[in-house]
Amino acid sequence: MNQRIPQETIEEIRRSVDILDVIGEYVQLKKQGRNYIGLCPFHGENTPSFSVSPDKQLYHCFGCGAGGNAFTFLEQIEGFTFVEAVETLAKRANVVLPERVSPSVKQNRDEELLISIQEFAAKFFHHVLMLTEEGKAGRTYLERRGFTKEQIEHFQIGFAPPHWDALTNVLAKRDVDLKKAGESGLLVERESDGKRYDRFRNRVIFPIRNGKGKIVAFGGRTLGDDKPKYLNSPESPIFQKGKLLYGFYQARPAIRKENEAVLFEGYVDVIAAWKAGVTNGVATLGTSLTEEQARMIRRNAETVIICNDGDAAGAEATFRSADLLQQEGCHVKVAMIPDGLDPDDYIQKYGAERFKKDVIGESLTLMKFKMKYFRMGRNLQNEGERILYIEEIIKEIAKLSKAVERDHYLRQLAEEFSLSLDALKQEQYRIYREMKRQNQVSQGKTNTVRQKKHDFEQKRLLPAYQNAERILLAHMMRNVSVAETVQERLGGRFNVDHYQAIVAHLFAYYAEGFEPDPSTFIQRLEDQELIRVATELAMLEINEEINDQELNDYIEKIEMYPKWLELQQIESALKKETDPVLYATRKQELINMKKQLKL
Ligand code: UTP
Ligand code: MN
Repeated sequence: MNQRIPQETIEEIRRSVDILDVIGEYVQLKKQGRNYIGLCPFHGENTPSFSVSPDKQLYHCFGCGAGGNAFTFLEQIEGFTFVEAVETLAKRANVVLPERVSPSVKQNRDEELLISIQEFAAKFFHHVLMLTEEGKAGRTYLERRGFTKEQIEHFQIGFAPPHWDALTNVLAKRDVDLKKAGESGLLVERESDGKRYDRFRNRVIFPIRNGKGKIVAFGGRTLGDDKPKYLNSPESPIFQKGKLLYGFYQARPAIRKENEAVLFEGYVDVIAAWKAGVTNGVATLGTSLTEEQARMIRRNAETVIICNDGDAAGAEATFRSADLLQQEGCHVKVAMIPDGLDPDDYIQKYGAERFKKDVIGESLTLMKFKMKYFRMGRNLQNEGERILYIEEIIKEIAKLSKAVERDHYLRQLAEEFSLSLDALKQEQYRIYREMKRQNQVSQGKTNTVRQKKHDFEQKRLLPAYQNAERILLAHMMRNVSVAETVQERLGGRFNVDHYQAIVAHLFAYYAEGFEPDPSTFIQRLEDQELIRVATELAMLEINEEINDQELNDYIEKIEMYPKWLELQQIESALKKETDPVLYATRKQELINMKKQLKL
């Protein structure tokens, strides 16, 4: 499939887009020397190990090993196929691609069609709400709840008339494929006769946009008390609940600017908060936060304020979301709403100013929130309850990764309950050990994560021949004459399988007359694993120049390794040799070899 788009076109696209712009839409990058660094979007981390080189047009994460060029980045982050990545960047670069219908293009067209139907339906619902007699019920409802025209416009709120065929008829009149409209969940098929009818009836409609701002689904709120309160579009090729956040597209600029996002539970909360000037708000879509959503937020902001309903369910959800967000490296705060209200209720009751100032503005650190939470409904005058409370808090303190933080909260506890700090510290350490032991038994997962990090740290201590292969390859990618020398003297005899494959590709690349350019070269590798390894090598910090002496040393180290292996074998065979004649011959062989290897 790759071959269908001409290589020149791919290169043209690659030359005309800047990897910094592409990645900059997902990761906040800071300049550091010649490169830009940021938090890796592919794994959770607190300190940046993700590096982008504008010179080489490559990115590489020193933490998880992800790497490649602008195309690979989109493949990895959006789950695109190569062709989809090319198409996306072609649009950006205003490069026209030859017409073809490959499966992915067909899929794209399909999705575009589904989206265009959603966009059309959104306009219809909005029109009904704003301008028709039938929309009056919706207008009255929204008015009663204090929605302004501005809010309704900004979020393109609409109204679905109370009929079975309002949208169906309009779509049919426009010759829209009703089967497609069914696939995207706007229409429902009746089992008895296959006739299609409107899914959303007599409901206020909240369009849901994907990350690119396209409408892909709807949430419809009943005007009355019937169930469900919110009817949502079903999952479809264009809508996966766990991968989107309500309001994200519109909030993203504010989220990035403030380096902070507010996470709500419901659509209406996002909309109400927006009017109150909290424009960086997003919400999950009626389900608990997923890892993917947490990562989406983390790519755009460091701090997340969780602002859930002020009831027990809200607090439970806060705990869950907080864990996940922290795992992804977010700094988590919690905005608490009194009296069991939700954000929208609170704004109705106390006004926008107080919401911004007293709720969002007064958000607590996660630990403070937990302290408050565990206290609720407890009588701390009672000794038993007090001890339980203290135990619970110590458990939470033990989970903190920073010693300073642990110390801070332990002191606070000691002071408040007149306890000895030493005793609390001991208890905290005991709990920490216990939790760690339990983790090791039950969670193989955390161990593998640790293992992964460990492997990465080990990389610095590679054997000499591997280092030689890495550095040599890095030079060869940047310099044809180094590649030529290596080809003459060593051929493709690299010892590490991946490096050997890359060397073979590199010789072929130069043979085709290409200039040294890591990004173009990587483009042609196609194999994800090779791309990853080659990128890492291309991003190695090496001196621009390499002199003959160094070049010689590296080549020798690489050549010597198989001989050294052989030597090891002879040595171990020698140890087992019982025949004195054979022993003598082997010994002589060994000495000769060592001489040759200058050992
Ligand atoms: P809530 O029941 O707290 O609703 O559900 P709400 O946001 O306060 O809505 P209003 O103020 O009564 O209109 C929180 C969120 O959970 C999802 C919706 O996203 C809702 O905003 N939800 C709720 C559903 O998807 N389906 C439901 O039946 C109920
Ligand atoms: Mn509400």
